[in-house]
Amino acid sequence: MDIIKSMIRKNLSNILTYEPVEPISLIANKFGIDEDQIIKLNGNENPYGPSPKIIDAIKRSEISIYPDPFQRNLRQELEKFLKINSDHIIGGAGSDELIDLLFKLFISPGDLVLDCDPTFGMYSFCARVAGAKVEKIPRNSNFDLDINAIRASTSRNPKIIFISSPNNPTGNICKIDEIKALLDLNILVVVDEAYYEFNGFSVANLVPEFDNLVVLRTFSKWAGLAGLRIGYGIMPKNIVLHLLDIKSPYNVSTTAESAAIASLNDSAYLFENVEKIKNGKKYLFNKLNDIDGISPYPSAANFVLFNLINSKKAIEIYNKLRSKGILIRKFNNVRLEKCLRVSVGTDPHNTTFINTLMDIM
Ligand SMILES: Cc1ncc(COP(=O)(O)O)c(C=O)c1O
Repeated sequence: MDIIKSMIRKNLSNILTYEPVEPISLIANKFGIDEDQIIKLNGNENPYGPSPKIIDAIKRSEISIYPDPFQRNLRQELEKFLKINSDHIIGGAGSDELIDLLFKLFISPGDLVLDCDPTFGMYSFCARVAGAKVEKIPRNSNFDLDINAIRASTSRNPKIIFISSPNNPTGNICKIDEIKALLDLNILVVVDEAYYEFNGFSVANLVPEFDNLVVLRTFSKWAGLAGLRIGYGIMPKNIVLHLLDIKSPYNVSTTAESAAIASLNDSAYLFENVEKIKNGKKYLFNKLNDIDGISPYPSAANFVLFNLINSKKAIEIYNKLRSKGILIRKFNNVRLEKCLRVSVGTDPHNTTFINTLMDIM
């Protein structure tokens, strides 16, 4: 046993205790609630689900055959959809996999990456696995980037900076001038646009101009395919070639590829749901804003972060909602200890969440 432990890479030898997402069945059992009564607003998933057209597409897909390692169909369809040459595009098993692959390609143990705190946890998660050092650069009081601090950190030779825009969990967008300022710093700038379709703000059109810009997107949010695991990146052609070189050959499943293509072909339907989600977000923001002791942050994504008077209140609200089968998100990060994040649900779910929250408050 000790021999095995001593063989495990040093940076991974301690298993970190993390709080896993609790499955719906577990919560239902624990609180004696029917599974279909649970309201899941903790994963920024799409409450309207995928396009119905993916069912047929999946049935027709050649499930017994390995997928094309070069993802030609997916990349061609994305080329038509995005009007960006497919040489700049690569698919991944969720954008999470592409984050991981970027670490594999660029980061040796000990290399430095920049994380603009608070932000999406996957960047520091992958950094740990890769043995990278992470410099957390605090966002300012509005959660905007501190460009001067980032600029100052370049004296320590960071390789990659990750920018979630809109930022998960704060919901704010990074301005194009800020991204351009970062691109001048000679580091790889990864702009994670997982929530792009809820706001239309993108820097993807800059990709052909810059050799250090990577943009990540996903089908998990706007297209309702979170469980199928499919995302894509838009990046310089040589980075695509290197990622194709190192990724596992069949990383995107046949089913996921078919469902993604069917989603692109049914985007009008999916964008109607995106509009519903944006309206649901307005409703949540306004209602939260009306509650004494709560202040929500404006959000360009499909969730709203809100502040409570203190961290005790935040945990109390979180626990009470959970015991009633309403699941939202709390945070370990000190800067977010007074905050909770709610994902936009269907209209009835949003109303139930707000009414229950008002009762609790
Ligand atoms: C900023 C950000 N990037 C990436 C992801 C993961 O997306 P995917 O499901 O494509 O791995 C999420 C999911 O919550 C996210 O918030």
